[in-house]
Amino acid sequence: GKSVITLDDLSIRQIRELLHKAQYIDSHRKEVAHTCEGRVLATLFYEPSTRTRLSFETAMLRLGGKVIGFAGAQLASVTKGETIADTLKTVSNYVDVVAIRHPKEGAALVASRAASVPVINAGDGGHMHPTQTLADLATLQSRFGRVTNLTVGLCGDLTFGRTVHSLIETLCRFGNVNFVLISPDELKTPRYVLDRIDATPSCSYTEVKDLVSVIGDLDVLYMTRVQKERFFNEDDYLRLRDTYILDEAKMAKAKPDMAVLHPLPRVNEIAVEVDDDPRAAYFEQVKNGMLMRMALESSVVGDELPGYEPLEAKEV
Ligand code: CP
Repeated sequence: GKSVITLDDLSIRQIRELLHKAQYIDSHRKEVAHTCEGRVLATLFYEPSTRTRLSFETAMLRLGGKVIGFAGAQLASVTKGETIADTLKTVSNYVDVVAIRHPKEGAALVASRAASVPVINAGDGGHMHPTQTLADLATLQSRFGRVTNLTVGLCGDLTFGRTVHSLIETLCRFGNVNFVLISPDELKTPRYVLDRIDATPSCSYTEVKDLVSVIGDLDVLYMTRVQKERFFNEDDYLRLRDTYILDEAKMAKAKPDMAVLHPLPRVNEIAVEVDDDPRAAYFEQVKNGMLMRMALESSVVGDELPGYEPLEAKEV
């Protein structure tokens, strides 16, 4: 098995295979329930999480495996000064696969280099969140039947929003995506992410500040939370946190089949009234996150799903 630190670690063919596997898993829950029997997953979470940790864990449990780990570093030996490398050299003796979330960019890569089992990045600071992107791709696939030929608006904290960085990186590889990057000046997309779009001839981007003036052009609106925990200055956070609030008045200007995505958790940026709009796809994303993690975990440990037929080469 191989580590997944960004989705660049998987080929497009492998990503398509995971999307296909997740669909199979959803409709064959009983058949796959023993796939990972005897396997153990460690979740090493040095930062808060609801969805990512619980879905990594339930994914392994639903595949018949077991789970160990810690949620919040306070009880782990990092508080005594242990390094990530030593932690991973240790935990590699206990488990078959590790999911790690850490506040520092690059921590998952450091972990993967020290580990002797596959390491999956469950979010490293403001850098990347590849398994969230797998959930996002599955949601686009189910809403549109494709992940390309779309105008994708990304709105909010494009500086620190790691889910945005992973999603742009991956959509550029699929190609034919027009990005509309909606943020205040202080929260624009980092240069290394814009470079990915610039390097992709079939993709383009525009940067704007106003959501209302562009919402009617979008096939997808990917809302993000202003990432309080990454700000150096509380005043900046308080000033910027309510810049964008998606409500039904704004939704009235959007296409009838636009999909609203959000990695969650949300604070104020999507009014609760939007949840009942059929265009709201963010709780579908949650379900897809679990299914995609089931597909990924079984794949990285090398366990075949009973009855699953891989995609034909010609379909890829
Ligand atoms: N989407 C996401 O990463 O949520 P959590 O922070 O709750 O895991």
